[in-house]
Amino acid sequence: MKTIGVLGVGDLTEKVIRGLRKGGYSAPIYLSPRNLEKAQNLAKAFDCEVLPDNQAVVDAAQILLLGVRPDSLESLARSVDIGPRQQLVSFIAGASHRQLTQLFGTDRTVRSMLSYAAETNSTTVVLNPPAADVEALFASLGTLVPVEQEEQFELATVAACVNGWFYFLLHDLQRWFTDKGLDPQQARRLILGNLSDCVAYAKEQDDRPFAELGKSIATRGTYTALGLEMLGLHQANAAWSAACEVVLDALVAKSEEDDRSPARTLGGR
Ligand SMILES: NC(=O)c1ccc[n+]([C@@H]2O[C@H](COP(=O)([O-])OP(=O)(O)OC[C@H]3O[C@@H](n4cnc5c(N)ncnc54)[C@H](OP(=O)(O)O)[C@@H]3O)[C@@H](O)[C@H]2O)c1
Repeated sequence: MKTIGVLGVGDLTEKVIRGLRKGGYSAPIYLSPRNLEKAQNLAKAFDCEVLPDNQAVVDAAQILLLGVRPDSLESLARSVDIGPRQQLVSFIAGASHRQLTQLFGTDRTVRSMLSYAAETNSTTVVLNPPAADVEALFASLGTLVPVEQEEQFELATVAACVNGWFYFLLHDLQRWFTDKGLDPQQARRLILGNLSDCVAYAKEQDDRPFAELGKSIATRGTYTALGLEMLGLHQANAAWSAACEVVLDALVAKSEEDDRSPARTLGGR
């Protein structure tokens, strides 16, 4: 097993660490010291080691997980020298391979997108490009989706945003049911239950298009069809497409901006 260093101990990387340990990863995990309380708590609970600075993490680890927010990326890059054999795995939405290579002076970069469900070993793990050592490392976190093209990865980033939006949809539906008299736990169980029924059945019927599965339920004269007609009148699904579109536009604009910016390497203190 390769050793891991985490540069940027935050909400996402915390969940990744929890998932890795639960999934049986037993090699050392080194943590950057910023956000010290969170790092120390993780170290205690999940057998990690908090090192004195970012460079110490880089020097100790074979695979480096980047978990800072996009606006901290440049300052992180300035604080470290990455070795030529080290593998960088970036969770940072919108940070292109080109940008990572410019900032850290290495082309051994893998981009990854996953969700908080990493903590429960049930996330979708997108990787670009496919990389055997990272796939082996993350296999226990959930379902691996390696993609060859960076454009595909940006689309996977949109899908990760959809994951976040689902919670707001669930919230609104729960509120409707509670307004009508269900208690919040009953409403929660009904909504999650029907969603997981849908996911489980669609997975089981993997060769049937989603629309066909839906149409087989929303047949003429059913209550499902009645409500579906109202969703159509409100263009509910079109709103989801529009939200995807605006995120993709922002990601593409960011990538084009990176391509226009002059090449510079910030890696090194
Ligand atoms: N949250 C998600 O669901 C999600 C999903 C997919 C991808 N992502 C990506 O994951 C990244 C992190 O998101 P998050 O929600 O986990 O953010 P977060 O909770 O703010 O974590 C980032 C951590 O990095 C630390 N940090 C900042 N600059 C640093 C530096 N130079 N050296 C070491 N540590 C530094 C921050 O410390 P301070 O607080 O002191 O600045 C913070 O503890 C983002 O780039 C985001 O695009 C997040």
